[in-house]
Amino acid sequence: MSTNVKFFSGEEIPLELHKVRIVQKLNLVPIERRRDAIKEAGYNTYKLSTKDIFLDMITDSGVNAMSDNQLSAMMHADDAYAGSQSWERFKVGVEDVLGKKFLLPVHQGRAAENILARTFVKPGNVVPTNYHFTTTLAHIMEVGGSMIELVTKEAFEMSSTNQFKGNMDIDRLEQAIIDIKPENIPFVRMEASTNLIGGQPFSIRNMMDVRKVCDKYGVLLVLDASLLGENAYLIKEREEKWSENTLGDIIKMMTGLADIVYFSARKLTSSRGGCICTNRHDLYLKMEPLIPLFEGFLTYGGMSVREIEAMAVGIYETLDETIIGQSVSFIKYLVENAEKNGVPMVTPPGVLGAHVNAMKFCDHIPRSEYPSAALTAAMYLCAGVRGMERGTMSSIRDENGNDVLSDVELLRLAFPRRVFTLSQTRYVLDRLTWLHENRHLIGGLKFDYEPRVLRFFMGTMIPTSDWPSRLVEKFRKDFGDSL
Ligand code: F0G
Repeated sequence: MSTNVKFFSGEEIPLELHKVRIVQKLNLVPIERRRDAIKEAGYNTYKLSTKDIFLDMITDSGVNAMSDNQLSAMMHADDAYAGSQSWERFKVGVEDVLGKKFLLPVHQGRAAENILARTFVKPGNVVPTNYHFTTTLAHIMEVGGSMIELVTKEAFEMSSTNQFKGNMDIDRLEQAIIDIKPENIPFVRMEASTNLIGGQPFSIRNMMDVRKVCDKYGVLLVLDASLLGENAYLIKEREEKWSENTLGDIIKMMTGLADIVYFSARKLTSSRGGCICTNRHDLYLKMEPLIPLFEGFLTYGGMSVREIEAMAVGIYETLDETIIGQSVSFIKYLVENAEKNGVPMVTPPGVLGAHVNAMKFCDHIPRSEYPSAALTAAMYLCAGVRGMERGTMSSIRDENGNDVLSDVELLRLAFPRRVFTLSQTRYVLDRLTWLHENRHLIGGLKFDYEPRVLRFFMGTMIPTSDWPSRLVEKFRKDFGDSL
């Protein structure tokens, strides 16, 4: 069910099917302060302070709006080191919604990846995946493994009509298993709503085909379900065979195809925390000893029991199309209108955020000067909107110290569920369009501090010219003393 409504004028808008009951004041500081703030942050939006941010679109992780039911559930949490009733309630929810009965708690998604990597991945092993996620790859590499990405070629066509750009290329998967040999493959990993290529879904048909190949060669299938609800929502919209089914049917079908499901609850259940679940007791037992070692006892896993209560409610809320569809419809609104204004966006619109094609937007900036990082900094500068770089800055260096150029260069403007309004979305559209008109003023960046792993979190950059000042000048010329 779409959350769009039609106006008398004929225009369709994504209507907010919720009301605001608690609000947080935001500041839109003047552009001169934004220029200083982004400089102090080393042109890395992760290092900005929220006092300088108007719309925080860096992520949906841990920042989706929580529901009244989640907040009230947090009040009756059962604080116990072992055997907490909060955990029991969450277990029931996971079994109901995801259909898995053996659960391991972890403090967030990457902690699940740590447990999976340590349990299953041996040095030299290769994990085939539709596409990597930063933390997944980092954990697999930490234990001496690597990943091979097998999305279809269309995944890298930024402007496309392919409805399932997160699909695995089945022929390449089979060939990869033959070449690498099944004994060197600890598992195949499918990521729902493939994050780094623009939140693009895969189809159930595709996952069924992946399962068939896994069965043929006796390889495990692991599902990263952090963005499962949204992937299921787009399956309902885009995969004809499933259009009459509920989100619940689709979710169960997807999780049923996987041997192990894990997720960041910061995303899936609009809370914090994470979880690994399976119906295979043998696999559960292999992972179990690592939970008390790295996370905490088996009934809390490093999480506060209040969060576990919020997860228990949130897992059921992933079945509600008006909740899951809200950010999807706002993303679609921004992407379609930005495209109309000539801004190169990733299409079809995906989930999690609207993704701007920085390679095209900033085609005058060489890849060695990090065009998507520069665009991300410029967007903050002109709008006070904090997006996230998803390109070569988020990549790694090879053994010779050269940048491994990312397949795509993106600015991600995340839409946490039920957080922003339509007028805020229209503000983003306006400033993004202005920035596109003035894109030749944006220049490159280079690292001045570059950590070894996950450099995009902690690294700092400097501009290759005085382009930030020139952008500020043009803004003042066009907008006068407007914020
Ligand atoms: N898997 C996927 C698909 C993710 O998107 C994330 C996090 C993780 C695993 C790791 O989970 O953050 O709870 O440790 N994505 C966030 C983002 C960070 O902003 O896209 P985590």
